Amino acid sequence: MEKTLILIKPDGMRRRLAGLSIDRLDNAGFELIGAKVVSVTEKLAREHYALLKDQPFFEELIKYIRGDFHGVSNRRVLALVYRGEDAIKAVRGVVGATNPEQAAPDTIRGTFGRITTRGQFENVVHASGNAEDAEREIKLWFEPGELVE
Ligand code: TYD
Repeated sequence: MEKTLILIKPDGMRRRLAGLSIDRLDNAGFELIGAKVVSVTEKLAREHYALLKDQPFFEELIKYIRGDFHGVSNRRVLALVYRGEDAIKAVRGVVGATNPEQAAPDTIRGTFGRITTRGQFENVVHASGNAEDAEREIKLWFEPGELVE
């Protein structure tokens, strides 16, 4: 059994895609064991994406995950933890490729993601990439008592 972190990003929240995303993850057989709406601080954003700090798109990415492009009332992210067999890789399969134009059409990102005219990937959801990232990210977003284990 693995645990993995999923975030419904501010574009997904603004466009009311949280329910559809949860529906797809539930129907793929994963078990939801943690959920909360978070207003993402600068510190949390930078810690979450720390491994990407040298990428040219990093500062825009911090603005995106904090909701800067989606209006004051949409400064919201829905943080979820799903559990299941081989969940990290399998959830990435449901979520699709990073670039929404390359994501398979039946994935969350392939169905709902877009690239803005500024070149930002608005890909609706985040999902942990590997076991090490999943452990680090779950600790960052949730207190141990907030998960039903
Ligand atoms: P990354 O961790 O590489 O991908 P993933 O989210 O699939 O694990 O990148 C983090 C986010 O950064 C990605 O979801 C969208 C954004 N991003 C861009 O805006 N442009 C890019 O060229 C890349 C690679 C990512």
